[in-house]
Order: sequence, then C-alpha cells, then structure tokens
Amino acid sequence: MRSRKLIVLVMLGLMVGCQGERPTPEVPEQSFDIQTGADPHSFAEYEKVSIAHMALDLSVNMDAQTLEGHVVYDLDRHVPGWQRLVLDTRDLVIDDVLAIRSDGTVLPVSWYLGSAQGHLGQPLVVVLPSGIEQVRIDYASKPQAFGLQWLTAEQTSSGRPFMFSQSQPHYARTWVPLQDTPAVRYTFEATVRAPEELMVVMGAGGNADDINDDGIYNFQMPQPIPSYLMAIAVGELEFAALGPRSGVYAEPDWIDRAANEFDVLEEMISIGETLYGPYRWGRYDLLVLPPSFPFGGMENPRLSFLTPTIIAGDGSLLALVAHELAHSWSGNLVTNAAWQDLWLNEGFTVYFEARIMEALYGERIERMLAKLDWDGLMADLPQHAPGEQQLVRDLSGRDPEQAFIRVPYDKGRFFIEWLESRFGRETLDAFLRDYFAAFAFESIDSETFRAYAIEHLFQRHPDAASIEQMDEWLYEPGMPAFAVAPESDAFERVDQLAEQWHSGELALLELPTQAWSVYEWQHFLKGLSGQVDTEDMASLDAQFELTDTQNVELLYLWLLLSIETQYGPGLDRLASFLMEVGRNKFTRPLYASLAKTDWGRARAIEIYQQAQSGYHPLTRQASERALGIDSDIIGPN
Ligand code: BES
Ligand code: ZN
Repeated sequence: MRSRKLIVLVMLGLMVGCQGERPTPEVPEQSFDIQTGADPHSFAEYEKVSIAHMALDLSVNMDAQTLEGHVVYDLDRHVPGWQRLVLDTRDLVIDDVLAIRSDGTVLPVSWYLGSAQGHLGQPLVVVLPSGIEQVRIDYASKPQAFGLQWLTAEQTSSGRPFMFSQSQPHYARTWVPLQDTPAVRYTFEATVRAPEELMVVMGAGGNADDINDDGIYNFQMPQPIPSYLMAIAVGELEFAALGPRSGVYAEPDWIDRAANEFDVLEEMISIGETLYGPYRWGRYDLLVLPPSFPFGGMENPRLSFLTPTIIAGDGSLLALVAHELAHSWSGNLVTNAAWQDLWLNEGFTVYFEARIMEALYGERIERMLAKLDWDGLMADLPQHAPGEQQLVRDLSGRDPEQAFIRVPYDKGRFFIEWLESRFGRETLDAFLRDYFAAFAFESIDSETFRAYAIEHLFQRHPDAASIEQMDEWLYEPGMPAFAVAPESDAFERVDQLAEQWHSGELALLELPTQAWSVYEWQHFLKGLSGQVDTEDMASLDAQFELTDTQNVELLYLWLLLSIETQYGPGLDRLASFLMEVGRNKFTRPLYASLAKTDWGRARAIEIYQQAQSGYHPLTRQASERALGIDSDIIGPN
C-alpha cells in the first residue's frame, strides 16, 4: 500500500519539479527525507502553506481508548504553486487523505508517512494539487497516544472512565495530524461524540452551554491558537458557576471543594484585566482533573486544566491558578514561536502571576512567594550547563521537554522584575499593556521582543538601564550581578526561630507557628534539610502532624525529609502518595531521591511498578528516568 503511494509520489514529485524550475535528480530524494524546518520540533513547512482553520469530527471510544474520525483543514497558501502539505503525526493511524475542491467535491490525493524520528514522530506528506485549499484526513489515535491519558472506571473517583489531553509542548500530533508548532495559529470548530453518560469539554467555546444527553458536543474556537493549546477531556463532570464568565468543572467528588477553593476566580480575572488589558477569550473556566494529571496546571484557552492536589482547603495554593490565568495574556495571546523562546511564555507569566497574588493578598505574601522562587532558582541553576542557563537557548536536536526547567520560569520572572525596578512600575505596566496589544494573537521570538523593548522602553528611558544589561539576561548564563534578590522579613524571622530551635534555646512547642502561613512553613521545612534526624522528625510530627498535612507543597517537603532521615511514618505516606498522585513536579524528585539511597532503590522500583498503570505517559517516562530504568525512551535528548 505504502510503496504504491511512494511511487505515485515520486512521479508527482518529478512532475511538480517539471512545472517549476528545471528538475534536478535530488527532487524526489528530498521529498522523502523530510527535515524539521524553522521550528526544530516540527516538520511543518508553514512558511509555504499553513493551516488557517480546522474542523474536527471525532468519536471518543472509551473502551478501545481511541479517538476516531476526521479533520478538515482550510489552508493558507503562501507560495503559489507549492505542491505539498507536511503535517506532524506520532502514533496515528491515517486511513485516508482527500482534497476538497471549492465546489465541495472530493479528489483522492497521494500521501505518505515519512520515517519515524523518535519523539518527533512521522511527517505526513500530502501532495497538494494546484488550486486546492481544503484537505480532509480520516484517522484514529492509538491507545498509547502520548498526549492523552485514558483512565478506566476503576481508576477514577467517579467510577466512570476519564480521558484528558496534554498537548504542550509537542503532543497534539499524537491525537490530531497537524502543524504542531507554536508558530502556526488557526481557529477551529469541533463535533465530538462520546458515551451519553459522560461529558465532553474542550479548550474552546461551547462548554457550559452545551450540556446535553445525546452525547454529541459542538465547540468553536474563534480566536486563532497554536496547536499546543488544543485540549479535550471526557468524563463524569459537574459544573459550578463561580462568576458571570467563570466556573469550574470536576468529577462529582471534587466539585464542592473545587468551587469553594476557587471562589476568587472572577476577581482574579478582573485584576488581570486592570493590569494588562482586556481578557480576550470570552469565558474562563477551570477543569479539575484526576490526581494523575502530570502538571500543576495547563493554560488551555478558556479552560485551564488543574491538578486536584492544589485544593488545600484554604486557598493557599492559588498562585497556580493565577499563573494559568496569566497565560491568557502571556503565552496564549502572545506566544513563543518555538520552544527555545519559552521564557516569553513562562517568565512573563510568573511575573504576572506574582502581580495578581500581590493585588489579592498584599506585598508581604507576594515577597514570600518571590523568595521561594529565588531560592529554588539559586539551587537549580548550578545543576545546568552554562548554555542551559540562558533565557534564549538552542534546543535543536533535543526534546522540547528539556525547555521546561526553572530558568525560563524564574530567571525570566526576575528579568521582568528587574525591568520594573529600573523603569518603574507604571512605565513597565504601560509597556506590557502595549506589548500584549501589539502582538495579540501572534507568535513571536525573543529577538522580536528585544527589538520592541529597545524601541518602546530602552530608547525612551536611556538613563534607566542599558541594552547590554538586557542582553546579559537574555544571552548569558547565570544571574547578572545587578539582579535584584527579593527579601522577606517574614522568612528571616523563621530562620532566626529555626536557629533557636536547633541550638536548644527554644522548644518546638514555643515556635509561634500558629501565625505562620503555608509559605513560612515551606521555608521552614526547606531549611530543615541536612539539619534533622529521625528523632527530630518524630517530634515535629507529634507536634504538627505533618505526615497528615492536607497541603501538598508541605507534604512534598516532608516526604523528602522523610527519605533523608528514613522516617518510617513519612515513608509509608510516601508510598500511598506515589500510588495516587502523578504530578511530575513531585513524583520525579521523590523517586529520584528514594532511588539514590541504597536502602530505598528496590522499594522505589516496587512502588513504581504498582503505581505506573495509573500514571500519565509523561509521568511514566519521567519516573523511569529518575529510577534509571528507562525502558522505552523515545528519541534523542
Ligand atoms: N504550561 C505549563 C505546563 C507545562 C509544563 C506543560 C511543562 C508542558 C510542559 C503551565 O503553565 C505551568 O507552568 N505549570 C506549572 C505551574 C506554575 C505555577 C509554575 C506546573 O504545572 O507546575
Ligand atoms: Zn506556565
């Protein structure tokens, strides 16, 4: 089958060549060896032809764990006479490709899947007859699709199966054949069929107003988005309104706690708008996923996906919601054109998140959060080679997963904070509002930002800061000597008290912990590493019940200390935590730290073997790497 298509393509390739310049012997050769292009993580030749609109029509098969159906693309042709469309795919079953003429009639076309290239998958090459501006692809996803997690009825709190997507950075191609690069934006519509007892939601319009019993859902996305923001989830979901344009979806067990925890959402949106301009996406809802969700949150447009682990009961982990909301400007509205420019998405967002938190809870709380980030970054930076410590990096030939280290997040954030300290808050805010308006619904690279900042900030206020200083942030490793470290009086006080406890001046009982926020607790627990033994752990636990804490950030630090000190009750809790939670930020370091000990390695592997069937493919991959048992690592790193 495939070889017949290959032969047709060779002939067509030659014919295409004949129409244009003089054919050279290399033409057919080249057409088989598709290389990544302007974006090193996509095969799409989007400067030649790009997707303008997508119409998806999918059926969700929860038993077979597949999505099946077709997608129709409207194309923008940028180079007249260009005769092929290259899409990204990974693990997809492509059944057929058809061209649709302007009168609606269809025309079979030649196509083939190029050879598999590790995590990048396979290019799908479609020969485009001239004049054709619509293409239809009939396809199905496979159960192992890396960008989807399928949970069986036994694996959810509702007792019904669940499925959700995670497309960032380059996994949309495992459930839709598309130009999987953040450089390309398109609008879309979707019809999705699912079992009647389940609800389908998408990062799109049409969610809340389309709750129905026939199992057929329609969505529209009128704002152009990049592929990594494509999102879908299916499960037994309930909805609770939080404000006129906001609400939350969750499985029945979670919905009340979720609605309670997130009741400030509408206020957060208003704060965002006051800071950086109108919210341009219509509604903003949250979706609480099962605990296997591999991240804290994912900024899917109109519908951020969240881990249930941030539902602490007291709103203390809402910075994560502020973060995902902030992406509605930094990331979703103005988008990094490729993953080496990730700091444009994440650095601005961490800064913006901090501004929302400050507006909601005051400067004292915000400075604590800033200090936690700073300390985390300082601990993390030396673990990376100099080239990795730059905001602008070269990721060609590597898995874009590697972009997601603390540097683009926290170094990015402190860069923007530094701009604020140099130019003043008012000037910087006005600049940022203009920046979001100037590049709204565009994908840009670091150089575009740099040129814009030079023109609109540095040249207008030449005494405030120099371009060389900005370039040091962007292109040099480490932190510039002139970076401004955050200070927190509250944490200094915690340090003094901890010191007094260690030296025996103060008993645990006398620590004024009643007045501590979760962030002071975080700082305190971090400071205990290397300072406590098993006995201290038992006293701390007796006094503060840390093994039973409901706050996942504190629990995580407590579990790391439990590994460090071989504290029994903590280690039991660790096993049950790893069985339930698949959030990579916690699971990866916990497995790594347990596997590093001579007594814990076998135990870590045993826990993993029991837990892995409930993990997302990403969590499985990361855990196996942490444990050094990576069986099926895909592609180069
Ligand atoms: N866009 C990310 C989620 C993500 C990370 C997707 C890595 C793919 C690869 C999201 O906005 C994010 O940064 N989430 C963080 C929370 C944030 C408060 C730092 C997370 O999930 O921990
Ligand atoms: Zn983010």
